[in-house]
Amino acid sequence: MSVPLSLYVHMPWCVRKCPYCDFNSHALRHPTDPLPESAYGGALIRDLEHALPLVWGRSVSSVFFGGGTPSLFSATAIGDILQAVRARLRLLPGAEVTLEANPGSADSARFAGYRSAGITRLSVGVQTFHDTHLRSLGRIHDSLQARRAVELALESFEHVNLDLMYGLEGQTLQEACLDLEQAIELDPGHISLYQLTIEPNTFFAHQPPRLPDDDSIWEMQQALHALLARAGYERVEVSAFARRGHACLHNVNYWEFGDYLGIGAGAHSKLTLPERGVIRQTCLRTPADYLESVGSDAHRKTSPVAAEQLPFEFMLNAMRLVEGVPVSLYAERTGRPTEDLLEGLSRARQRGLIEEVRGRMRPTPRGLDFLNDLQSIFLH
Ligand SMILES: C[S@@+](CC[C@H](N)C(=O)[O-])C[C@H]1O[C@@H](n2cnc3c(N)ncnc32)[C@H](O)[C@@H]1O
Ligand code: SF4
Repeated sequence: MSVPLSLYVHMPWCVRKCPYCDFNSHALRHPTDPLPESAYGGALIRDLEHALPLVWGRSVSSVFFGGGTPSLFSATAIGDILQAVRARLRLLPGAEVTLEANPGSADSARFAGYRSAGITRLSVGVQTFHDTHLRSLGRIHDSLQARRAVELALESFEHVNLDLMYGLEGQTLQEACLDLEQAIELDPGHISLYQLTIEPNTFFAHQPPRLPDDDSIWEMQQALHALLARAGYERVEVSAFARRGHACLHNVNYWEFGDYLGIGAGAHSKLTLPERGVIRQTCLRTPADYLESVGSDAHRKTSPVAAEQLPFEFMLNAMRLVEGVPVSLYAERTGRPTEDLLEGLSRARQRGLIEEVRGRMRPTPRGLDFLNDLQSIFLH
């Protein structure tokens, strides 16, 4: 059984915590506080060394620096981390190496530095080009900086993603469309389009903004998807739209139930071990705890994924892909027989949520709209 392997590197700091965000991100005490770049870089490498026995002999097909705000780290720091990774893990030739950037910490020398350091793809968190909405989302940048950040990213990188959110407080259909039109005009190869969701334990969960009603959101979604299709962006996944050749290979590996090793505060891993099957791991979440205990057994919590959970875990990911996956991929990724899926597949087919075409299973348009229903059919 050969399962592709990716590496995820978590960078847990941000200048300010956005009120909607439940990622493992921690505001700097003061915006100009220095980051513990070398201490954290060293910790990441100790973390990797500790985890290496779990991935002996395997090659890595993609790397993703996510956050938090990885672009708070200097190009030198990112370069040092990547060099140390390459000295310990074999990266496949042409491996995709993504870094997430906030427009508030973007400049041309920094982006060029990332490219020289080995980053091949930049993901820019724009959210909206509307200044009032940017302010109510608590963003640290304005629309001009957002546009400039994407332009600079495109000057240095062939592969650029732009994150947009819709369904914002007081947002009209016209405003949402104008946001996307501005994004398309900049012409990045990839656009991630997220509906703003209110996550528990965020500022917005305690003081909820007045979001557009469900009918308006539905209308926005239809209009935005049509705009993307007209501009030549194919829907790869629920929220991911790409021009040909610009899909994010790292994310596709998640959705195809590939393996990933996560290093850094709060990073998650999913690994297939020859003698133990599929396991999940989580690193300690707060940067201080992580820095203190990294490299010891205490900082990674491991839990096995039972065979009965595999159909759900697999379909939870695979059915996010618009084109789905070959039915045979389940056995390839899990080492379990395809029969595990048959009863669920037949129920999902009867409810019009899945279709099978030439050996592939994929969600129907209705299945994509009611993804939770589709996925929960495979719950044990
Ligand atoms: C880790 S952040 C990206 C990088 C950087 N921290 C930034 O915000 O610019 C990943 C993306 O997830 C999306 N996101 C985060 N919280 C969300 C929420 N509650 N609802 C919808 N999208 C969300 C945003 O588009 C965000 O850019
Ligand atoms: S900058 Fe990004 S990671 Fe940081 S709090 Fe805002 S959305 Fe979350």
